[in-house]
Amino acid sequence: METRNSRTKKVSRRMKPFEQITSKIDSELHNNLPRKWKKIGDIVILDLSNIKKEKENIAEIYAQVLNAKSIIQKNKISGELRKPEDTKILYGKETVTEISEYGIKYKLDLAEIMWSPGNTGWRSALSGPEKISEFYTFDKPKTIIDYFAGIGYFSIQMAKGYPEAEIIAIDKNPKSIEYLSLNAKNNAIENMEIINDDCRNIETKADVIHLGYIGNTIDFLEHAYSCLNDKGTVIFHEAYRNNWLGFKSRSDWGTVPEKFSKLMGTKRFTVEKFERVKFYGPSTSHIIARLKKD
Ligand SMILES: C[S@@+](CC[C@H](N)C(=O)[O-])C[C@H]1O[C@@H](n2cnc3c(N)ncnc32)[C@H](O)[C@@H]1O
Repeated sequence: METRNSRTKKVSRRMKPFEQITSKIDSELHNNLPRKWKKIGDIVILDLSNIKKEKENIAEIYAQVLNAKSIIQKNKISGELRKPEDTKILYGKETVTEISEYGIKYKLDLAEIMWSPGNTGWRSALSGPEKISEFYTFDKPKTIIDYFAGIGYFSIQMAKGYPEAEIIAIDKNPKSIEYLSLNAKNNAIENMEIINDDCRNIETKADVIHLGYIGNTIDFLEHAYSCLNDKGTVIFHEAYRNNWLGFKSRSDWGTVPEKFSKLMGTKRFTVEKFERVKFYGPSTSHIIARLKKD
């Protein structure tokens, strides 16, 4: 027979994290408590800007329930280098964390460098689902260049997937390069050259150029074109408004939008494949395209 006590225990074991959090906090504050957060490795990014009283205690409760070593106030990612703006630690001390994804370990400092949880899966290159590996399958590439390598989001997977190829990973931010070098070493990558520079200063020729950037990716296509070998491939990430893309329903996502095809045509590229990575704001999509040099 189930006693009252054992039933209470079962209920509390099934409590969702947010219920556990609210159960530990004064009910007058519940309306302002965030129901969403991002857990990156063992650190949680959370928006407590609406909380005026007991912010530190509340952050500590989130840390306990979510098993996080630190809580960081959600902030803007800004500028060309996509850096988080002045990071505020609400609980704990550390901002360096480690993430494991598709067999790769990435270390990074969340006070200095962004990590996009929504790109999980897409960073898997050859190690992930077929829909993604199809984008990242290249015919015996000799050289692959990642123009916006960051801490190795994509380039480490590509180095692993193409052990015969040379991977050139470029990033302008010295902090990213510091972690990229560490991550390459920690993942025993031996076929990667790491360059701290603006990608437009690097003239090396390649069979594949990866443009893992959002904002003005198109501005880098001319340089990529001049560096691509004949029949070379560009993997192009960008965000576009859904109505510009002509996306109305889910079934449209895999098709190549005509306007996008035309735009890439003006840059002398043919669109081979097109997919949505994720929503990027309410009416915008982060997309990926595979482009062939005409
Ligand atoms: C933050 S990443 C994009 C996010 C990443 N794709 C992900 O999956 O989370 C963009 C990187 O491009 C770098 N960057 C920006 N402009 C650059 C340029 N002109 N040349 C080389 N790197 C650049 C930034 O320093 C940054 O590390």
